[in-house]
Amino acid sequence: MTSSTTRTQVGIVGGGPAGLMLSHLLALDGIDSVVIESRTRAEIEQTVRAGILERGSVRLLVDSGVSDRVLREGHEHEGIDLRFAGSSHRIDFQDLVGRSVWLYPQTDVFTDLADARSRDGADIRFSWTATKVDGVETDRPTIEATAPDGSAHRIECDVVVGSDGSRSVCRQQIPEGRRTDYFREYPFAWFGILAEAPPSAPELIYAHSDRGFALISQRTATMQRMYFQCDPTEDPGQWSDDQIWSELQSRVTGPDGLELVEGRITDRSVLRFRSFVTEPLRHGRLLLAGDAAHTVPPTGAKGLNLALADVRVLAESLQRFLLKDDHEALDAYSEQALDRVWGAQHYSYWMTTMLHTLPGSTPFDHRRQIAELTTLVGSSAGSTLLADGYTGWA
Ligand code: PHB
Repeated sequence: MTSSTTRTQVGIVGGGPAGLMLSHLLALDGIDSVVIESRTRAEIEQTVRAGILERGSVRLLVDSGVSDRVLREGHEHEGIDLRFAGSSHRIDFQDLVGRSVWLYPQTDVFTDLADARSRDGADIRFSWTATKVDGVETDRPTIEATAPDGSAHRIECDVVVGSDGSRSVCRQQIPEGRRTDYFREYPFAWFGILAEAPPSAPELIYAHSDRGFALISQRTATMQRMYFQCDPTEDPGQWSDDQIWSELQSRVTGPDGLELVEGRITDRSVLRFRSFVTEPLRHGRLLLAGDAAHTVPPTGAKGLNLALADVRVLAESLQRFLLKDDHEALDAYSEQALDRVWGAQHYSYWMTTMLHTLPGSTPFDHRRQIAELTTLVGSSAGSTLLADGYTGWA
């Protein structure tokens, strides 16, 4: 039995950063939306995510009035350190492409968006589960949802957006014969930690080593985020703090004497690597955005940036469709967003395969990777290509 029916213009399944940003951008155009999110706000806020925002993502947050906290509390990074064969090589983004990135935890982006949406009185339903999406081939699609008290509700929409993450329920609404799924799995993962320590270096270190990849990222003056390449089946509980530190140290060691500042490890997990894209991003009145449509491996931190780029294009398309009756706008979204999605797929794959050690790789493979990295840092064309992608293209 349905307890209530709500009518809205855009029904958004998934209230992560993509869904909330879309709801916010639509509201700025006077378009009404309802967001259904199965997790609680606290659950989303407690998930550790990547920490790098491209310039375009920062601009979107600031220009749309969501947050200037990113400018106050985030840290501008004008470059990264590519480390291989025991030496560091700075890639200077400002010199090469005149842009920076911001170190600002992606969970903070979510918090800023959730605060802004609740301040504006938006209809965001945390702990609600979308059980069914129907009628996407008609002009009146619906979402069936269950409230936290178990009651059933119905949301009638002009358009449904699936921003419900990599295990998207909405994606299943696109018949298999009408979509192409592109998928790649990698034979390695990241062992990620949070540690109570000051930063070990002024900028992020991406380290290639004969023991595999490591990334030395940052969070705050007293908390750091680091990763090292591991087997996807690794059990993080089996590692002592000492073993973790010694593995990380061994991957950055070199004649320059670089040493990581150690501290208590407060969080540890293994992150799987996947590349995935589904095409097209539209079927009838259903549109996909963010992880529901694509996944990238974490090298280069493109996931959230790509999701925000999707919704910026999507908000414009929905505005043309709903306010100007432009029926081509929805197809235009898919085509336009996919250009960037594939650019980011290539970039994340490239960074990943350039820096990680494949199981079974030979001394030739290792030496060739060093040659690739040497060519890259020795060439302004190569370094510019890396900087252009890292900072999010022009
Ligand atoms: C992070 O800080 O979690 C992070 C930073 C850069 C990456 C990936 C993850 O490329």
